[in-house]
Amino acid sequence: MSERPNNLDAYWMPFTANRAFKAAPRMMVAAKGMHYTTDDGRNILDGTAGLWCCNAGHARPKITEAISRQVREMDYAPAFQVGHPKAFELAARLARLMPGTLDHIFFTNSGSESVETALKMAIAYHRINGQAERVRLIGRERGYHGANFGGMSVGGMPANRKMFGTLVAGVDHMRHTHGDPRNLFCRSEPEHGVELAEDLERLCTLHDPSNIAAVIVEPVQGSSGVFVPPRGYLKRLREICDQHGILLIFDEVITGFGRLGAPFAVDYFGVEPDLVTTAKGLTNGVIPMGAVFVQKKIHDAFMKGPPAAIELFHGYTNSANPVACAAALGTLDTYEEEGLLTRGASLAAYWADAAHSLRDLPLVADIRTLGLIAGIELTSLDGKVGARAFDAYLKCFAAGLLVRTTGDVIALSPPLIIEKAQIDIIFDNIRTVLKQVP
Ligand SMILES: Cc1ncc(COP(=O)(O)O)c(C=O)c1O
Repeated sequence: MSERPNNLDAYWMPFTANRAFKAAPRMMVAAKGMHYTTDDGRNILDGTAGLWCCNAGHARPKITEAISRQVREMDYAPAFQVGHPKAFELAARLARLMPGTLDHIFFTNSGSESVETALKMAIAYHRINGQAERVRLIGRERGYHGANFGGMSVGGMPANRKMFGTLVAGVDHMRHTHGDPRNLFCRSEPEHGVELAEDLERLCTLHDPSNIAAVIVEPVQGSSGVFVPPRGYLKRLREICDQHGILLIFDEVITGFGRLGAPFAVDYFGVEPDLVTTAKGLTNGVIPMGAVFVQKKIHDAFMKGPPAAIELFHGYTNSANPVACAAALGTLDTYEEEGLLTRGASLAAYWADAAHSLRDLPLVADIRTLGLIAGIELTSLDGKVGARAFDAYLKCFAAGLLVRTTGDVIALSPPLIIEKAQIDIIFDNIRTVLKQVP
């Protein structure tokens, strides 16, 4: 087991209170199955699949073996003008996994890069189709689409945006879908709020749809606090996009690969977008990788002109990195053999019962669940939004449970291998902690 380093100074940690962390570090040094081990030898139950990514749990043999075999065989191959078999094998396998004709795959290294890729493809697609004026992008308040400029711009989390100037031009946002008190403590899709999809019509009127390239939404908003779309909302977005020739992008970076109890949110909601962004669960979080699923009609539109010409001036040094491809193939094998892409469906009711059992606690303002996701919203301390949930986070960690917080929401998304007894441990722990936080 690694020793705690003496100097924590040089590493500038992402999305972290660096000084508070370095004053009282929480160091993970090992992981297996449902648990992490800390450097002081404690077992921590993983209530968040790392960062919504280790869907098959930790240290899974098929994945680690595939990676070590691949590193020995071929560590890297150039991504441009050269291929390697596993990239094609993986793309074909992913295409089969996704319903409909979302059957062309572009590889990236993260969710953020998948989002940038999808936004660029949408604008370029309209241009090659003779509609170069379609450049506007529509996101949604409270959306999270990664930390790069495009994703930050279509994203709708104020803290992530406010320090970074004017962002990408030509972006607008639909209203978020949260806040109707009739939807409190909802166990799946809220009954109220489908009419919020009409907000897209408002933006179409304002900007004229002929100027809009694409709408991007997370099917379930995760990072900003677990917001499940009202029943019929995504379908209605699809209809409005179709009516106006606008592309619809689902950002499935967290909902993809079994999180909702179906392989993708596309399956769960029965709505087929034009592009789907993924990452995280694609490789079980083990090696960075993302993938954009593209409708055949979009892909084929680019495959014109002289065959020797590059069709899309976009890509990354590590697009389809061979080790990442091996990790993804090992991950898909694991998902398939253990039925993990649909396992959440059989646990969802138990999970929801356990989560909603916290409803009686005085600090709990709302609980939202879907598949193997839960958001437990706490009432905020006066003038200190987020402080109460973070206090709960620290107490959970001390008690051996990893949760995530955003604002005053405790967000849970365990590995899909979780057993019922471990679900009980998660919510028993949180109950105990919520009785202790001020
Ligand atoms: C919906 C969504 N999109 C994009 C991202 C960004 O992914 P990454 O951190 O891999 O860049 C995230 C990360 O949480 C996400 O939840």
